[in-house]
Amino acid sequence: MAAKIRPLIAGNWKMNGLKSAGLREARNLARTMKKHGKPGCDVLVCPPATLLAPLRDAMKGSHIAIGGQDCHGNEGGAHTGDISASMLKDTGCAYVIVGHSERRADHGESSREVRAKAEAAHRAGLRAIICVGETAAERKRGQTLKVIGKQLADSLPKGSTAKNTVVAYEPVWAIGTGLTPTVEDVAEVHASIRSRLRRRFRDDGAAMQLLYGGSVKGSNAAELMAVANVNGALVGGASLTAADFWPIVETCI
Ligand code: 13P
Repeated sequence: MAAKIRPLIAGNWKMNGLKSAGLREARNLARTMKKHGKPGCDVLVCPPATLLAPLRDAMKGSHIAIGGQDCHGNEGGAHTGDISASMLKDTGCAYVIVGHSERRADHGESSREVRAKAEAAHRAGLRAIICVGETAAERKRGQTLKVIGKQLADSLPKGSTAKNTVVAYEPVWAIGTGLTPTVEDVAEVHASIRSRLRRRFRDDGAAMQLLYGGSVKGSNAAELMAVANVNGALVGGASLTAADFWPIVETCI
């Protein structure tokens, strides 16, 4: 039997959070975690870049990791407004999200670019959380598994391992809408992702953490986390306050 995969509960704050509220919530989260003891999952917060260093300091000693929301595929140079994977590492990040559907849509990022970003993350010693997911129109046309298969094939670097890569399935239509797929639909997509990863990366593919993301909240987290091949969650709106995020972390305790 395959070894149990340790879950990861990750919060993606997106473009939300100023210093006062952000620090308050990070301290609340660290305090809550301390009170309950180390949970049976990895916990990660990905704030906007402006809050990485303050949150790192505010959550010191809490076992809560910090991560970036994106990185450039190059190490450095003339790329105004961008941030490199090694800069994130240098600031104390352990993870970086790449290929989020909002980046793919708002910035026209292709899976090739996403792969370059993931490679940069690996070179810098970060774990890349690589996002995939279908749009509502693609689901309606019955193309969900095909679209995700192509995104996986094109976005994951050759050197992906269970240690340096996490895959997040985020149906675009479920993000920020309050809609979620049925547990049967999540099970079908995650089983398909697992089998593709296993075929390509062998034991590493079998051991990679697969997250579900899209309108995860305290009230539906336990049900989603119980689905086969779901090894955690990538949470947007419900990660912004400790009061909303903690019940999701708690499903892993
Ligand atoms: P919501 O949880 O707000 O739907 O966002 C999901 C997401 O995009 C996390 O990356």
